Amino acid sequence: MPAFKAHAMQPSTLLDEQARQDFVGALRAHLSGRLMPGAYTVYESRVEPAFRARHGRAPLDQDEIRKFMTQDSFYQFWSAMQRRSQELLWESVIDPTERELPELLERSKKIAASGKIAGAKLKARNGRRRGSLRLNPALEIPRYHRAADIHLQPGGYHTDFTTDDVSAGVVYDKGINLYMGGALGPENNLMGDTLLAYLREKHPDRKPKRILDVGCAIGNSTVVWARAFPQARVHGIDVGAPVLRYAHARAEALGVAIDFSQQNAESTDFAPGSFDLIVSHIVLHETSKSALPRILGECRRLLAPGGMMLHLEIPRGRTVIEKFMHNWESYNNNETFARYMTGIDLKAEAMKGGFPAGDVLVDEFVPKLDVAQMNYTEHFFWKILAAQR
Ligand SMILES: C[S@@+](CC[C@H](N)C(=O)[O-])C[C@H]1O[C@@H](n2cnc3c(N)ncnc32)[C@H](O)[C@@H]1O
Repeated sequence: MPAFKAHAMQPSTLLDEQARQDFVGALRAHLSGRLMPGAYTVYESRVEPAFRARHGRAPLDQDEIRKFMTQDSFYQFWSAMQRRSQELLWESVIDPTERELPELLERSKKIAASGKIAGAKLKARNGRRRGSLRLNPALEIPRYHRAADIHLQPGGYHTDFTTDDVSAGVVYDKGINLYMGGALGPENNLMGDTLLAYLREKHPDRKPKRILDVGCAIGNSTVVWARAFPQARVHGIDVGAPVLRYAHARAEALGVAIDFSQQNAESTDFAPGSFDLIVSHIVLHETSKSALPRILGECRRLLAPGGMMLHLEIPRGRTVIEKFMHNWESYNNNETFARYMTGIDLKAEAMKGGFPAGDVLVDEFVPKLDVAQMNYTEHFFWKILAAQR
């Protein structure tokens, strides 16, 4: 697994804790690399023929094969192991976080207050302004976050387990590194790098001065944009206070100035026309049917004339079995809205948000980046919703 870059806001790991994380990483690599492809073989050799024998035709969609697939013993075995690996993943990152939480809380406060901490070398700021953090304790957390812990992370992105908590951010940072077997890069930068590569390839002349990252969580993708456009003022918003406290301390520790604020992307307090680029990375599938067009409408309100929004999303597969496998996350990993995204027309959603059809493009993109591990399909491509104001 590629090395995860240590920074001041990550806990140290004891030998046993590291061994556990290594085990989870190896187990997940084995499951996705060696066992999961077997589900495709099982589909082609047993499930599809059984479906044809019963119905006299091929399955029409992923929902039709659900009953058949979920009764298959190989699929059941892989699915149970995959679910358990996700639980183990959180357990393995929560233990060191809990053990070192008092120090992490202290460090986050010191970094946020001064940009310096004793004993840790922070990157030089090159005289740039520092970032900021604005929290809103009165913000109502949307039901789609309160109803279930998305991808089983205990407490989700928004729960404070203690005063000024940062643990959701600490756990998420290392958790997604393990989840993707290190494929997100040393700073979990893959999604930001991918969308940036898209902008540079398709719109090389754009040099945004005011950038908003919607659903920024720990700011892993936001940092990519702030580094790519050092003259720009970069904002990151999220509903979760603990991920934002962590994002702020992490960005400051990395020497990158970002203005984070706790806001619901469905309705923000920014003035109309505040941004010339709005981005999001794997956020839309964690919202809801009603929130999705509202978020896109809010993006339109926030874009200056000529401004552009780019939303990076996880593809939902092309074939019946690929779509079924993607939707595993909804049924087994609390990605409750993700399966509806399989049938949602993103262009139509952007039009509900007020964009004229001619200004919207739903694109597919395979970046020329070194991606070590792909999930669920060999033919991986990112989905991008692009629209211009
Ligand atoms: C999968 S994480 C994405 C993390 C990050 N964008 C990245 O590049 O890795 C989804 C994030 O979107 C946030 N989110 C979801 N709905 C939101 C909303 N309505 N307003 C603001 N943030 C939201 C969640 O709190 C969570 O932190």
